[in-house]
Amino acid sequence: MHILRPLILPCGASIQNRIAKAAMTERLAGRDLKANKWHLNLYKKWADSGAGLLITGNIMVDRRYKESSGNIVIENESGLKELQTLTANGLRKGNHLWAQINHAGRQSTIFSTFKPIAPSAVQLKRIMLFAKPRAMTIEEIENVIDRFVSTAVICKKAGFTGVQIHGAHGYLINQFLSPKTNLRTDDYGGSIENRSRLLLRIIRKSRVELGPYFPISVKLNSADFQRGGFNEDDALYVIEKLHDLKIDLLEISGGTYENTVFLTKRIERESTRKREAYFMDFAEKIRKHTNIPLMVTGGFRTFDFCEQVLKNKELDMIGFARPFLNDEGFPSNFVNGVSKKVQDANFNFKIKKLADFAEAGFYDYQIHQIAKNKPLKPNYNPYLGVLRFTKNELLKGWF
Ligand SMILES: Cc1cc2nc3c(=O)[nH]c(=O)nc-3n(C[C@H](O)[C@H](O)[C@H](O)COP(=O)(O)O)c2cc1C
Repeated sequence: MHILRPLILPCGASIQNRIAKAAMTERLAGRDLKANKWHLNLYKKWADSGAGLLITGNIMVDRRYKESSGNIVIENESGLKELQTLTANGLRKGNHLWAQINHAGRQSTIFSTFKPIAPSAVQLKRIMLFAKPRAMTIEEIENVIDRFVSTAVICKKAGFTGVQIHGAHGYLINQFLSPKTNLRTDDYGGSIENRSRLLLRIIRKSRVELGPYFPISVKLNSADFQRGGFNEDDALYVIEKLHDLKIDLLEISGGTYENTVFLTKRIERESTRKREAYFMDFAEKIRKHTNIPLMVTGGFRTFDFCEQVLKNKELDMIGFARPFLNDEGFPSNFVNGVSKKVQDANFNFKIKKLADFAEAGFYDYQIHQIAKNKPLKPNYNPYLGVLRFTKNELLKGWF
């Protein structure tokens, strides 16, 4: 089986199979923003699942600009002991456990801040959840680079076996990459060379600090799927530079909070519809430019399709997120032939504007069920999920 073959990364590390649990924000931290027993339960369970690579939900570099009030934040070594306990348990089956590192920029909700920062003062307009950001100074950009690097170094010290820099889904690095949100006229705005400077400086500096043998990955959008946003040509430029910097795994996704295609991509072309997964056409273009180990996340649901993609060498690794929350036995059921297709939860959303929030609320609930050692609840009402999720954000963020 192609899916069970190991993958050797450019840094020399080996992943025991081609199954990755893609990042899913856990929103489990308490007010101290540290790893705790819930994270431990979750990653124990996922280590036991048989996936070769587990990528954590986004861990933030700055407590002021979180993605959620329940994120883990690493600004110094005060939570090192808790992280070490987490990695010791999350690595117990010979798998890898990588920390996804992020800064939300303007996509930080009002539960985290009323004064977000971003490349430029361009506000995210979604049901009043995001305040208008202010443009970052050069000193603040330098500070963000230092924060990403020092968080990565602490993650290595804590026992994570790799890091992933989050450059996708509309968060700060993606905001710099996109001409729609980056209107700067200095060295960090304008051409794609300038817009990618923040990401590339983070990667270059991280490599120096982490050494040549430690896996560094980047999650990047194929495009933002918005007029005037980061597009495929921009992405190909960035990928060529990441190739030169010898990253170990490129994960492709797409979209931002303004167009959440990473969760709900509509597949327009007949040829693509047959192929079930998102972003595969773009993966084909990447292969012509670089041999960086390539992973795509989004829509992979059938075993035969995954096998075919790996056999054809279209991808090196497959990213799965929601399958881990729709089937408790994933991925072993998938590989052992018990269920060769993972069924997604079936929603019939009446309020279209809230559909992605409701979906997020539903899956957030399932993650918390696993963390509490309770069974998944496929019949959970997603609108209750929105209420629950908002209550948690509000209580942790404001009170
Ligand atoms: C509950 C949930 C939380 C997510 N959190 C993150 C995250 O923290 N970082 C990230 O890069 N992507 C995140 N994603 C996106 C997934 O990694 C993935 O790109 C997306 O769900 C598509 O893959 P799938 O079709 O296998 O679910 C999240 C998705 C879900 C459902």
